[in-house]
Amino acid sequence: MSESRTFVVSTATTKLTLIVDEERRLRLQGFGNIDHSASLPLAYPAAGDGWVFEPAISVIHADGNTSTDLRVIDAKYGEDELTVTLKDEVYDCRVALSIRANAETDIFETSVRIENHEAGEIVVESMASSSFDFGKADWHLTQFRGDWADEANMETERLGAGIKVLDSKLMVRAHQFTSPWFILSNGPLHETEGEVFGGSLAWPSSFQFVFEKMPKGNLVATCGYNPRGSRFHLQPGEALDAPTMIWAWSGEGSGDLSRKLHRYMRERVIRDGDRLRPILLNNWEATYFKFDEAKIESLFAGAKDLGMELFLLDDGWFGSKYPRDGDHQGLGDWMPDPKKLPHGLSRLTDAAKELGLRFGLWFEPEMVNPGSELCERHPDWLIQQPSRAYEPQRNQMILDLANPEVRDFAYNVLHETLLQYPGISFVKWDCNRYVTQPGSPYLPANRQSHLQIEYAKALDHIMDRLKEDHPEVEVMMCSGGGGRVDYRSMRCAHEVWPSDMTDPVRRIFIQWGYSHFFPAMALANHVTRWGERPLKFCFDVAMSGSLGMDVDVAQLSESDRCFAKSAIETYKRIRDVVQFGELHRLESPYDGARCSLLFRLGERAILFVYASTAVAASDLALRGLDEGQSYRVKEINTVGGSGLEATLDFRHILALPEYVELTSSVFEITPI
Ligand code: DGJ
Repeated sequence: MSESRTFVVSTATTKLTLIVDEERRLRLQGFGNIDHSASLPLAYPAAGDGWVFEPAISVIHADGNTSTDLRVIDAKYGEDELTVTLKDEVYDCRVALSIRANAETDIFETSVRIENHEAGEIVVESMASSSFDFGKADWHLTQFRGDWADEANMETERLGAGIKVLDSKLMVRAHQFTSPWFILSNGPLHETEGEVFGGSLAWPSSFQFVFEKMPKGNLVATCGYNPRGSRFHLQPGEALDAPTMIWAWSGEGSGDLSRKLHRYMRERVIRDGDRLRPILLNNWEATYFKFDEAKIESLFAGAKDLGMELFLLDDGWFGSKYPRDGDHQGLGDWMPDPKKLPHGLSRLTDAAKELGLRFGLWFEPEMVNPGSELCERHPDWLIQQPSRAYEPQRNQMILDLANPEVRDFAYNVLHETLLQYPGISFVKWDCNRYVTQPGSPYLPANRQSHLQIEYAKALDHIMDRLKEDHPEVEVMMCSGGGGRVDYRSMRCAHEVWPSDMTDPVRRIFIQWGYSHFFPAMALANHVTRWGERPLKFCFDVAMSGSLGMDVDVAQLSESDRCFAKSAIETYKRIRDVVQFGELHRLESPYDGARCSLLFRLGERAILFVYASTAVAASDLALRGLDEGQSYRVKEINTVGGSGLEATLDFRHILALPEYVELTSSVFEITPI
């Protein structure tokens, strides 16, 4: 290739344009509304050969040269997919950049592979999944951050000069503090206006997003796995893949961006995105570790009575020498606890089946308590460092999945239990700590820095096998709440447990944050007694996702039990709209005491209104309805009595009454 060439990867309403210049360097000409025709920045700048900013890639070649000079040698080009292969001018080190477009959703997936064809070993110091120059607009960054039981808080800031980094160094439960997704907006983030890009790394491990405002004022975002402590050695003939980075675009604000991401996730990411999620009863908050067979069977009765569809048995069902009676022991010993469950799991799966309930089971396959038979047998299976005392979190250590034998053990924990008990059709995959002492007893001393990547590859292997070997088993991804919320893990899962925080007052914010990247069907929301809020308020909040409960139904008052039963019936009637519909976020909980959101599927719409504190009567302008069309509005899910009924003229303004604190409404909206 010698003369310049242009590649356009298009979606329905936007495009990404790359140019190969006369020196065969790859340059970015445009993305979304950004036009770089005048400057043509490098599309994937490499370290060491003149580039003095954050590099997309940094390699030490076989002879010790720390610079890389990438030129295009090949391009495979289809309408919605492009793979450009670059090679160093001197060294036979090849880097293939791939961009795939999802036409209907304006989403681009980028991925990168490096291959070593040099005579000796090379070291990959860093390799981003994408590096884009976003030009000189008024870029604002919205991140989603928090901690256990406080996930996905939104924070927007204007990006100033220099570097802003969002990252995780946690490797496992990697997203406990920062979610692996963000939004760049031209100006403050707005729901219905402005150019926005949503970025999301499909990677269950440490990540790094670097936003560098260059001296000339343009913003470059370099995103990928976290290169810190992750130097990767490649022998001749070996290759390394960077994880997929997902970029969504909209010219109409974050609402439109989310609808595109939701559709993409339902159609391309989560499993069975066209199948309704079951309503489940989980025993965690009802019993914690304190239960036995009789207690669990008594919970089944409550689930059945309320019309739920699945029972999920949580932590605490296993361990023999070290029974799992608390979080201090037993992890790793995956046999039913003979004291709590003297008849094993079959008795429970059979009893559930007899009642017409499906049965789900909790696992934490990557973890081990030092107090376990597993740890006694295999002390060398734990992530640990020589000469350092164990540093447990929640009394547990992480298994060294870089070791294929350990990886297979972790897989078989799931696989063999599912084979042995075909009555289990749902798995909650939990993961409750992060890495603080990254060391693998399996990897040699000079390959310790491979742990992050080898661990993630092992997770890939386990997730893919689980999906292949047990296609009918549904998976809830969980990590002490939302510690594993990346699009890669979601490819193995049907839903995520976004947070252990189930007090609806806080939960409204958490669900709002997640809704920017996750469709409602993928967010498991459970009604619990956390915070002792009115049951209707709890239900109305949980019903805007995949509904479940974490309560002992027998402990509910008669009136609460009756309400719960009718709420579940109502949810069954509207869940297709919530789970498959388009979301319109109307009033943000960050802006005032009232929060509202509307889901629309075909002709039907469901509106949720939440008031955590008192709110005066005021009008609500609805969005997402047909222009010029009038509608009938009917309140549903009321506690006794009938609710508000109204008609909406073509302006779609709904006069909402005064709300006292901790009240809420659900409205069904149909065309007249
Ligand atoms: C953390 C999860 O987020 C909870 O829902 C529960 O499964 C516990 N782990 C069990 O240990």
